[in-house]
Amino acid sequence: MFITFEGIEGSGKSTQCKLLKEYLESRGHNVSLTREPGWGTMGKLIRHIILEEKELDIHPLTELYLFCADRVQHVKDFITPRLENGEVVICDRYFDSTIVYQGYGRQLDLYTVKKLAEASTLDLVPDVTFLLNLPVREGLRRLDLRDETTNRMDEEPMEFHELIRQGYISEATLNTNRIKIINASHEADDVQKQIRSLMDSIL
Ligand code: TYD
Repeated sequence: MFITFEGIEGSGKSTQCKLLKEYLESRGHNVSLTREPGWGTMGKLIRHIILEEKELDIHPLTELYLFCADRVQHVKDFITPRLENGEVVICDRYFDSTIVYQGYGRQLDLYTVKKLAEASTLDLVPDVTFLLNLPVREGLRRLDLRDETTNRMDEEPMEFHELIRQGYISEATLNTNRIKIINASHEADDVQKQIRSLMDSIL
């Protein structure tokens, strides 16, 4: 089974991914946790170019291709072999991130973005996607509380993050069977409860 997590900055994806991994392991599943962008040697190089080289003037189309390139290798070399081995794979961000950040956020032609994002999955569509939904202000407040360096996306203005939040909601309404909206304004344990109860109904 292939599970993905999506959401704006500060929505708590990485915490929820870890808690879900523990839960599924306690139920006897073999679980691999991964994230995008940045898996493997090539992924790390790509991640560095897109997110860390802040002085680079990257065209939005270049950014789109780089995120997609990262994903193709990740799917081919990491995700697919594990799924074929019977494992559950949980991925923190996947092709919905490309559709929402490069399509709705960078405002590239949505049709082109969707075509490329879909191609980058090598036809591997998640069985379920949890969208952690919360107000942008709350997400950015949580980011501020963290003692981490920010990346190029975190530093975008409030309006950009609003486009991302709305883009996710639009995509969720287009894909109600796959994308489950989770209210992420609550404490981590309460958020996880919503996720586990949905997971139970899926399993
Ligand atoms: P990261 O540091 O991994 O943090 P987080 O996932 O917790 O936000 O940041 C990855 C950034 O890259 C994030 O701002 C979303 C963005 N992104 C895209 O713009 N397009 C994509 O296809 C992916 C996978 C990520």
